[in-house]
Amino acid sequence: MRQKIVAGNWKMNNNLDESKSLVKKVAKSIKKNKLKNTRVIVAPTFVSLEKVANKAKGTKVEVAAQNMHFAKNGAFTGEISAEMLKSVGVEIVILGHSERREYFGETDEMLAKKVDAALENKMEVIFCFGEVLEDRKSGNHFNVVESQIKNGLYHLEAKDWKNIILAYEPVWAIGTGETASPEQAQEMHAFIRKIVADEYNDDVSENVSILYGGSVKPNNAQEIFGKPDVDGGLIGGAALNKDDFKAIIDAI
Ligand code: PGA
Repeated sequence: MRQKIVAGNWKMNNNLDESKSLVKKVAKSIKKNKLKNTRVIVAPTFVSLEKVANKAKGTKVEVAAQNMHFAKNGAFTGEISAEMLKSVGVEIVILGHSERREYFGETDEMLAKKVDAALENKMEVIFCFGEVLEDRKSGNHFNVVESQIKNGLYHLEAKDWKNIILAYEPVWAIGTGETASPEQAQEMHAFIRKIVADEYNDDVSENVSILYGGSVKPNNAQEIFGKPDVDGGLIGGAALNKDDFKAIIDAI
């Protein structure tokens, strides 16, 4: 059965103390929530991962990294491997965020290798993709999304998909205050489910969680999450405030 997921991507925000304090507050704020079949994930920066993972232990909060390298180890200054993430208790990684693709030159090819490295290390992947504004305006958004998913994930076998979470994040909606309408999100999510069913089978497509990301806030979360093919959200700005994040979790 596919899961509902609210994941907070803290990006390059919060030092160690702030990160520890926020995860504690998030865990406390949802302690009494029933959260049946719903997962809550936070993704702090690398330097806070271990401490945040320790704080989250025994709570309903899970911890993800925002990125990783595909190699096991070696001369890759400044990079972190899947094995290293695992060694500090992190079992989930966000890959392919549009900021990684745009500012750090991550290509589909690199991402496919990162996905493999994560799965080889028995990690779960939150795989992000989404079109830029020109693609949306020219009607090319379905093609762009299909090609990002194809290039990043179609080399996987059906069984690998149990460790894949998809996150559709239209680039024009990230951090801009502009969201895709619930109808636009649903239309894209249904399209994604269809192409995954065509490439694999209904079992894979019905069981993969597809998150929406891009300016999800307490005042729009319920409507977006209410759509049948939207299984939750990847939350940026609003994940930095415990009350906003809780309100978004409550909306699911
Ligand atoms: P935002 O970011 O919620 O601040 O738009 C979403 C994301 O980048 O994952």
